[in-house]
Amino acid sequence: MEERVTYNDDIVKGFVFSGIFWGMAALLVGILISYQLIDPKLNYSPYFTYGRLRPLHTNAALFGWGIGSFMGLFFYMTERLTRSPLWSPGLARLQLYLFNITIALAGISLLAGMNRSKEYAELEWPLAIMIVVVWVIFSVNVLMTIIRRREEQMYISLWYIIATLVGVAILYVVNNLEVPVSFTKSYSAFAGTNDANVQWWYGHNAVAMVLTTPPLAIFYYFLPKSTGTPIYSHRIGIIAFWSLVFMYLWTGAHHLLWTPVPDWVQTLAMAFSIMLIAPSWGAVFNGYLSMNGQWHQMRENYLVKFLIFGISFYGLQTLQGPAQAVRTFSGFIHYTDWVPGHVHNGAMGWVSLVVFAGIYFIIPRIYRTEIHSVRLANLHFWLAFTGQLIYSVSLWTAGVQQGWMLRATNPDGSLSHTFMETVAELYPYWHARAAGGLIYLAGFAIFVWNIVMTVRSSRRQQAAEAA
Ligand code: HEM
Ligand code: HEM
Repeated sequence: MEERVTYNDDIVKGFVFSGIFWGMAALLVGILISYQLIDPKLNYSPYFTYGRLRPLHTNAALFGWGIGSFMGLFFYMTERLTRSPLWSPGLARLQLYLFNITIALAGISLLAGMNRSKEYAELEWPLAIMIVVVWVIFSVNVLMTIIRRREEQMYISLWYIIATLVGVAILYVVNNLEVPVSFTKSYSAFAGTNDANVQWWYGHNAVAMVLTTPPLAIFYYFLPKSTGTPIYSHRIGIIAFWSLVFMYLWTGAHHLLWTPVPDWVQTLAMAFSIMLIAPSWGAVFNGYLSMNGQWHQMRENYLVKFLIFGISFYGLQTLQGPAQAVRTFSGFIHYTDWVPGHVHNGAMGWVSLVVFAGIYFIIPRIYRTEIHSVRLANLHFWLAFTGQLIYSVSLWTAGVQQGWMLRATNPDGSLSHTFMETVAELYPYWHARAAGGLIYLAGFAIFVWNIVMTVRSSRRQQAAEAA
């Protein structure tokens, strides 16, 4: 007879609720910085200025909301896919405390103006060490659970989870090699173009290992769970997985096109970025083909809506990204608002939509109840969808306009516009971005309410059963 496994869901709850908390903080700061760009009077010096709040937004969004939720969902998936309890619940609890303390200290240090000036790697060395400790604890726990698994087959999501654990560890340690000069200041161990190269090797692989492999692990697990039918092809999933992790590592220099970085490095990055379309779309097609005969669920099942629109934004993102990596197109959109449009199509569309689906799926199951309101979940979907589209489309348009203005020349060959003139034209788009952000935030608030009410109704049911 098969042994019953007790899963440790308390830790899953801890991480998911932490993720939601940091997500709300990130969105609020996102709205504030959107308005600061429109009205500089909203900068409150020295702590609440754009320069300090922008990295606060990105860190809270990527590391608080993204990684916090991934940690919870990874624990949930790993236990079930291996049919094994977590290797060490004690370590996981320690990780939860350390994770939240680190994110809180990160926020405080950024507001205090401590910053290594490397995007997505802003935190000073004592915090970087704390992050390494959290990550090592996390990785050991998940890997040991996988090693001691009772299910021999390793489902595709586990491969994506392992890639995340190993990838983030390597990238983070290399890009954080630095020489401390005081407790709050350090200098990079690399210099000049080497430093830039290492930074964007890290930066783009953060896209790979934080904004691609974790949501793919979630997508591959929760799509079949939500539709009740298996994934179209495990084999396509595995082939796409290995080609994706191989190709991503060469693409970082597409952030440095037209710079003093050697030409061949730029061309290599360009070529690998274009090749990346294949494994990226391997996952998109796998998702779409898994919907064969199930498309009606797009109307009936809100989880499927989040997941399929999520993977569609991933598809869009992974066509747009390679296009941006081509020198000519890069020359047009780099230094314009096109780029934050690309970022948020991926962050608010792809990454957040699949995380919402994962959380909506697990919370009722962990609490042994139904979701409080399917109507509210649908409303959340539409607000997230429209808010994100308003955000991204307005910035893409802004980017095209700015790109043309920056290139326009007079008959004598001089530039027609100064950079400031191009920026002055962006106000309408920035208003639209802020409006899109507010709509997205409204959706997020409804999501939080729905989750809180689900938990409360489960507690009431349990109290009634106990009475
Ligand atoms: C085939 C896949 C992809 C390729 C080839 C790609 C390519 C690019 C390129 C070339 C840039 C630099 C734009 C510039 O500054 O000129 C960029 C920026 C960025 N992309 Fe993608 N992208 C891909 C997928 C994604 C995905 C799935 C996400 C998820 C959200 C994402 C998030 C970002 C972020 C956060 C940046 C901004 C980096 C910064 O701070 O400057 N990308 N991407
Ligand atoms: C209410 C929703 C949001 C609003 C209003 C918002 C607003 C902003 C603003 C104003 C910027 C600065 C853009 C610039 O420098 O020109 C920014 C950057 C960024 N945000 Fe958000 N954001 C939102 C949601 C998110 C989410 C959910 C994520 C990630 C999961 C995210 C990740 C980022 C990243 C990575 C950047 C850096 C982009 C770059 O360097 O090009 N944001 N955001």
